[in-house]
Amino acid sequence: MSELPTKMRAVVAPNPGGPEALTLVERALPTPGAGEILIRVAAAGVNRPDMLQRQGQYAPPPGASDILGLEICGEVVARGAGANRYALGARVLALVPGGGYAEYCLAHETIALPIPAGLTDIEAAAIPETFFTVWTNVFDRGGLTAGETLLVHGGSSGIGTTAILLAKAFGAKVIATVGSQDKAEQCRRLGADVAINYRTEDFVEATKAATGGQGAEVILDMVGGDYVPRNYAAAKVDGRIVQIAFLHGPRVELDLRPLMTKRLTHTGSTLRPRSPAEKAVIADALREKVWPLLAEGRCKPVIDSVFPLAEAARAHARMESSKHVGKIVLTV
Ligand SMILES: NC(=O)c1ccc[n+]([C@@H]2O[C@H](COP(=O)([O-])OP(=O)(O)OC[C@H]3O[C@@H](n4cnc5c(N)ncnc54)[C@H](OP(=O)(O)O)[C@@H]3O)[C@@H](O)[C@H]2O)c1
Repeated sequence: MSELPTKMRAVVAPNPGGPEALTLVERALPTPGAGEILIRVAAAGVNRPDMLQRQGQYAPPPGASDILGLEICGEVVARGAGANRYALGARVLALVPGGGYAEYCLAHETIALPIPAGLTDIEAAAIPETFFTVWTNVFDRGGLTAGETLLVHGGSSGIGTTAILLAKAFGAKVIATVGSQDKAEQCRRLGADVAINYRTEDFVEATKAATGGQGAEVILDMVGGDYVPRNYAAAKVDGRIVQIAFLHGPRVELDLRPLMTKRLTHTGSTLRPRSPAEKAVIADALREKVWPLLAEGRCKPVIDSVFPLAEAARAHARMESSKHVGKIVLTV
């Protein structure tokens, strides 16, 4: 292992603002603590929460780096006390609470996973945030099983494309909502059974039509606001609605009667503030249930575009354009 430098390039947002607020800085190399590994980053995924952090609306949890970036892939170059799961030189991907937009990044070894065979660095870096999120929300909390129907809003997003791939791989039927015909076509190509352009079609009616009038067993929602009562209407009796964001806002006036009469479960979660131990449980489930599928090439992440680290602002502008389908990745 060659000698490590003492400094690295990293991207931060010292003053909240648009994509131009992202600033390339020089930082000291972080030192791995107990149970941590230091990864020489090859690629880092870009996620919608990074936009919120840049705008000053989503502070890193206590103890996390102020450097942006929630997911990486690269090579293990140093290990903290007790970290012996991966050898120096091992190629891993990792979910991190911050610090991903950098040449080096710390990860807890229990939340790092080996890179499935056949995946490039760019594909591997595009996995952690959406696969952890979809697994814990659609399968753990939502309890989606084979033969059931998943309605996923934002079907062309990083989260949405992963939800389509995983739900189909596990034998569910998928209905996706998107903002254009082109995105609808791309979701169908990924395996969605039905793709609804929400600008021209009512997703409640379309979901009922696609399920023989029954509705969807599980709904993954990042929109909130006016979608909440419509989700209740689109859900099947005993349906589970899982909230992961509020693009239309968190406040809503609501008739709660369908919650009782249809015996609905409305739940939700965030990922970033959870403890390493909680994230490790999700990592273990992914390794057991999803890694074999990735190795078979059955649910490869969808890559929209790739930008060098120094051009992170262009990557953010691309995400904010909402023209992307799938993941945007930075190469380091
Ligand atoms: N709770 C958690 O643990 C967790 C973890 C990760 C991400 N998230 C959330 O999940 C969402 C997706 O994340 P991502 O990284 O996959 O982002 P992304 O790729 O940028 O996806 C956002 C999608 O939402 C749709 N959209 C944007 N504005 C909208 C609006 N006003 N109304 C309806 N749809 C809108 C866009 O598709 P259209 O053009 O089709 O509208 C876009 O594809 C984000 O809101 C993020 O904060 C939550």
